[in-house]
Amino acid sequence: MYLCICNALKDREFKAAAQTAGARDVVGAFKACNARPKCGRCLEDAAAMILGLKESHPAMVEAAE
Ligand code: FES
Repeated sequence: MYLCICNALKDREFKAAAQTAGARDVVGAFKACNARPKCGRCLEDAAAMILGLKESHPAMVEAAE
């Protein structure tokens, strides 16, 4: 499923890139995907996904701090 239509980013790609890069926020996750938010419609879902990653992978937060 597409998370970001503007950048043709699928949710799995976004999540994997964010996780691999240890992204702490949406901006970092987009950067990990070599993309930038455009219209902003996906930002709420993207933020929820990052929050979910932080909750399920607490080491990701610790490593980034
Ligand atoms: S849908 Fe992601 S920036 Fe437009």
